[in-house]
Amino acid sequence: MTDDTRIAVKPNVLAGTHVDASKREAMVAAARDEPDVFWKHESRRVAWMREPTRIKNTSFTGDVSIRWYEDGELNASVSCLDRHLAERGDQVAIIWEGDDPNNDAKVTYRELHERVCRLANVLRKLEVKKGDRVTIYLPMVVEAAVAMLACARVGAIHSVVFGGFSAESLASRIQDCESTLLITADEGRRGGRRVPLKTNADEALKSSPTIRNVVVARVTGGEVPMQEGRDHWWDDLCRDVEPSCEPERMNAEDPLFILYTSGSTGKPKGVLHTTGGYMVWASFTHELVFDYRPGEVYWCTADVGWVTGHSYIVYGPLANGATSLMFEGVPSWPDNSRFWQVIDKHQVNIFYTAPTAIRALMRDGEEPVKRTSRKSLRILGSVGEPINPEAWLWYYRVVGDERCAVVDTWWQTETGGLMIAPLPGAVELKPGSATLPLPGVQPALLDNDGNTLTGPAEGNLVITDSWPGQMRTVFRDHQRFIQTYFSTFPGVYVTGDGARRDEDGYYWITGRVDDVINVSGHRMGTAEIESALVAHPKVAEAAVVGMPHDIKGQGIYAYVTLNAGEEPTEALRKELVTWVRKEIGPFAAPDAIQWAPGLPKTRSGKIMRRILRKIAANEVDGLGDTSTLADPTVVGDLIDNRVG
Ligand code: PRX
Repeated sequence: MTDDTRIAVKPNVLAGTHVDASKREAMVAAARDEPDVFWKHESRRVAWMREPTRIKNTSFTGDVSIRWYEDGELNASVSCLDRHLAERGDQVAIIWEGDDPNNDAKVTYRELHERVCRLANVLRKLEVKKGDRVTIYLPMVVEAAVAMLACARVGAIHSVVFGGFSAESLASRIQDCESTLLITADEGRRGGRRVPLKTNADEALKSSPTIRNVVVARVTGGEVPMQEGRDHWWDDLCRDVEPSCEPERMNAEDPLFILYTSGSTGKPKGVLHTTGGYMVWASFTHELVFDYRPGEVYWCTADVGWVTGHSYIVYGPLANGATSLMFEGVPSWPDNSRFWQVIDKHQVNIFYTAPTAIRALMRDGEEPVKRTSRKSLRILGSVGEPINPEAWLWYYRVVGDERCAVVDTWWQTETGGLMIAPLPGAVELKPGSATLPLPGVQPALLDNDGNTLTGPAEGNLVITDSWPGQMRTVFRDHQRFIQTYFSTFPGVYVTGDGARRDEDGYYWITGRVDDVINVSGHRMGTAEIESALVAHPKVAEAAVVGMPHDIKGQGIYAYVTLNAGEEPTEALRKELVTWVRKEIGPFAAPDAIQWAPGLPKTRSGKIMRRILRKIAANEVDGLGDTSTLADPTVVGDLIDNRVG
């Protein structure tokens, strides 16, 4: 595969595409040269209670201040619901497909509006006020979208915690933002199994004193303990309130949500997104990149616990009046044809998933795909990690029958929405490349000294000017925001990713340049896994790095030094894996643990991760200079005892 492999998707598929190559060029120029005019025009995508007159007011230097539409007022739930009622109140807003293939539901915009209003009234009754934080810990059920939109309606800031996180992880996320209310469920369902959400929540609540009320959705009907005065059943509360609810007037820069995400150091950060710019960006990118057309069924397989679920299951599609499919299950259950069966069942036109799922399904061959029709499909999207050209081509050929554009979308929790991605029909595709920046996105590549690289080059991917969906701050820690994103290379937003730009200006994301790893599209800080490991009483020290993994993209490789006198047994290895699952969540379980009597450190005590990454990847010939190590002999021992 070379950079010259280009795929121009056949025009008949894309007839009627509303952005062609020349329109795209014009948009790119307008957004760059006259951002106020361009983004004033695009602001019509959301329903304002007060139209903004001040559009862009941003600075990447000094105290870093990012404000968009700052005198506008709106409510995100009105943009997603109320304003659609007249025209498409009876159109399906959410198709819910259960874990069990016999279980599904359709919710119209009118029904969704009523459910959101009822829960919003409940929140008000429970004294949730504008600016209060509400933590949401739910499985992939319609209630998750209802909960987010109900928070938005009353001006509460939601913090959704992925249902795969452990009680400990949930507790630390509640504590950090001091939520006063938790919305959870009795249990979740995934791949035929049950996830004990309420039990985890109860455990977390032991160390979360700020929570006054817990609203519990009945999902499986499983028996769970309810604490009198604190825990309430969702249905009981919603029955006794009005079906309409006055939305709170929010300033464009009032917070909409917090989403915790991992960085190279410290605890996960509360990424804060505000209302106006985020909504415009979610709507703009969803319509452009997925070429969304009224009446189409759109399916994003992400979990609402991640940013992809926020922007591309809930806010973007609903702002655009789309029919958004929400899937409770997994691609491999009851069998590995499930995705394609769901596509046929609900006549899905646009499908958006992660490379890890594609690679896992690829392993099972073409038959599970080919036994389904998939005729309804028009666009295929990819997100979360680099997609290798082989997986890209399989997606294009086998899943899309060479009819559908594949849009590889690069972005981050911090960016709020898609940043580098092709517009189908307007940009020729190259398997493995996220292609070109969207209008309004100004990427650059810098070398490690901060010099801007021109033409074809590889370096640190930065963004030189603000876009409406950009995160505004780290919740209650603006200094950390500046430090993390604007200090390595002053004056630009540092993404933490590396990228290569080819002779056509196409971007190829090469992966993280920091100590963040991406395992099956789940972003984790190696430091978080290390601190989970050292919290075990037998562990003295731990160093975690990513290693190449055929399906997951990256696997977790942990080097563990035990306390003096502890035996490195197989049983202890298993115990540590279980320990990390419990501390963080099942997705953070190490794939390999190597016992390390010593770690390669510089004389100042810094662990040389470069060496550990090479050993984990079994690239022991290119270890580079090890002479600066305090004890170079540890390297030989680590190589000899490599796992796997
Ligand atoms: O390394 C990039 C990778 O995922 C990181 C962002 O992770 P998160 O904030 O969890 O958001 C995931 C959903 C957007 C990025 O820094 N990443 C995401 N999409 C791609 C990608 N890497 C390569 N290609 C992509 N399309």
